[in-house]
Amino acid sequence: MENRPNDARPRILVFAGSTRHDSLNRKLALEAAEALRSLGAHVTWADLRDYPMPLYDGDMEAQQGLPAAAKAFKNLVRAHDALLIASPEYNGSFPALIKNTIDWISRPEAGEKSLAALSGKTAAIISASPGAAGGRRGLRHLRELLEMVGMNVIGEQLAVGRAFEAFDAEGRLVRGEDREGLLRVAAALKESLSKSRSAAA
Ligand code: FNR
Repeated sequence: MENRPNDARPRILVFAGSTRHDSLNRKLALEAAEALRSLGAHVTWADLRDYPMPLYDGDMEAQQGLPAAAKAFKNLVRAHDALLIASPEYNGSFPALIKNTIDWISRPEAGEKSLAALSGKTAAIISASPGAAGGRRGLRHLRELLEMVGMNVIGEQLAVGRAFEAFDAEGRLVRGEDREGLLRVAAALKESLSKSRSAAA
């Protein structure tokens, strides 16, 4: 993570809900990170492959606390003001990988308030899928989940359809409408964070 002591910019953590090597959503998330950086945001990229967590298990939690990867990812989320998530659509919803990750990091540790790493923070959601709808149905469920854990999910979102044709060999979005859509999401996220900063000041 870029750590500049006097950097007052809001910190945005960007990740994809897929660990697949050739993931369309990873490509989209990387493009989103680039769009946010082009607007001057402080962005951290995370790959969930680096945080392999077992399926949530209450007995494991009671005996050992959070697994190391869940703790590490929770600390990463805690150090940021906002999340931007690029989520695949699986059977009309978001993947278990995202639910499991949110479930683990939603758990309070000793002396901590419930949902401490997530509640009150801002989120933006985007998706890519080979289908024409671009994963839009999954975003509806993801929005509900993130709101349930206390996040403010911005209204602007993007679903990139026919996504096998949406990126060039370097992983850049080729269609103007997708690039513009992504910039709109990035700008709305930045704007929402500036507003919540000024409201808190
Ligand atoms: C899918 N896929 C899919 N696509 C879609 O648009 N709507 C859907 O409901 C589903 N359902 C679904 C279920 C399961 C279990 C899998 C594995 C896949 C296809 C999916 O969009 C495609 O595999 C993407 O490439 C997955 O995202 P990544 O890994 O490329 O980011």
